[in-house]
Amino acid sequence: MSQFTWFTAGESHGEALVMMMEGMPAGFPIDMNQINTHLRRRQGGHGRGDRQKIERDTIHILSGVRNAQTLGSPIAMLVQNRDWENWQGKMGPQKFDTEPEKVTRLRPGHADMAGALKYAHDDVRNVLERASARETTSRVAVGAVARQCLSLFDIELHSFVRRIGAIESDAQPPYDWDAVEGSVVRAPSHTEEMVAAIDAARAAGDTLGGVYEVVAEGLPVGLGSYVQWDRKLDGLLAQAIMSIQAHKGVVVGAGWEATQRPGSQVHDVIEADAEGDLGHRTNRAGGIEGGMTNGEPVVVQAAVKPISTLLKPLDSADLATRQKVEAHYERSDISVVPAAGVVGEAMVAIVLWTAFLDKFGGDSLSEIRRNYDGYVRSTARRE
Ligand SMILES: Cc1cc2nc3c(=O)[nH]c(=O)nc-3n(C[C@H](O)[C@H](O)[C@H](O)COP(=O)(O)O)c2cc1C
Repeated sequence: MSQFTWFTAGESHGEALVMMMEGMPAGFPIDMNQINTHLRRRQGGHGRGDRQKIERDTIHILSGVRNAQTLGSPIAMLVQNRDWENWQGKMGPQKFDTEPEKVTRLRPGHADMAGALKYAHDDVRNVLERASARETTSRVAVGAVARQCLSLFDIELHSFVRRIGAIESDAQPPYDWDAVEGSVVRAPSHTEEMVAAIDAARAAGDTLGGVYEVVAEGLPVGLGSYVQWDRKLDGLLAQAIMSIQAHKGVVVGAGWEATQRPGSQVHDVIEADAEGDLGHRTNRAGGIEGGMTNGEPVVVQAAVKPISTLLKPLDSADLATRQKVEAHYERSDISVVPAAGVVGEAMVAIVLWTAFLDKFGGDSLSEIRRNYDGYVRSTARRE
């Protein structure tokens, strides 16, 4: 089993976000520009709030990489919060000169109430600073490293927005990824309608959720396993996606839609190509059978709820007085589905990279390359 682990630290308005990766093999090229590109993609999308105008997320690699190559030692990375300057005296480890005003008006749909009660905080800021999706910056940075490693084996990831509110794109594969990245809502069609829906929600003081899809191509057969519940790749992907803030559902392949059809119209016929290599005629399984990649693209859909900080706040209760109040409002996004897709890509990349190391793991790129090449040869046509 791979020893690859990662974790993150950092508050939304703290000094910086910090990431650690342990178990990265040596010899993998790391391009910081590519990490920054994905950080920028996460900051974009029509419907984001003013925070994104302040931040210019830029990666600092502190250890584990030398001369643009991994060393095999732990990788530590950092992204500074530019907004930190505006939070002097209200955030940070030192004793404050004057106590900042406490946040006590709880936001329905946020971590505020359960977090404050669980950790015995009388200031909801102590909860929201870490519950905030600012943390997804760290995931995107780690994911950007994972996807660079995967791309050496021709594994590539993309995502697109399928739906925002009631507006749905009917696009089918093959998707035009340049067009998706050129759309302000990262959608393959219906951009104008989605933008109009977000603008209408903003005008109404409301927010909108939606659905995005992540597609990973170029995967070998056999990442993940059927032999134990916690090694099944679909289960690992679901956990990773569901752990993203505001994510309330995951579907692999045709998913819910398949429940309405007979099996004969769901399962993907297996056939050999001209070279005798096995494949599938369709990909309704979303590239996973028995908890393992089956050689087809992995396709994961994620459901994102409308975010909970509303310009026109819902009724709520005050943590201190327990009286009825309007929920707290703090500078916020209107729709985060386009950005969420970038975070989803990162989480899928991390899960696939972990599974890849489980299967082919070694201490260096050359060792992993030998393992990979030997295995791929062994799964090809038998004479
Ligand atoms: C990319 C992204 C940006 C987000 N931005 C906001 C925001 O500006 N305001 C907000 O209230 N929630 C935002 N959220 C959602 C909250 O972080 C999330 O709803 C909250 O932490 C509670 O967790 P839960 O929705 O998973 O239960 C965002 C989520 C994502 C994925």
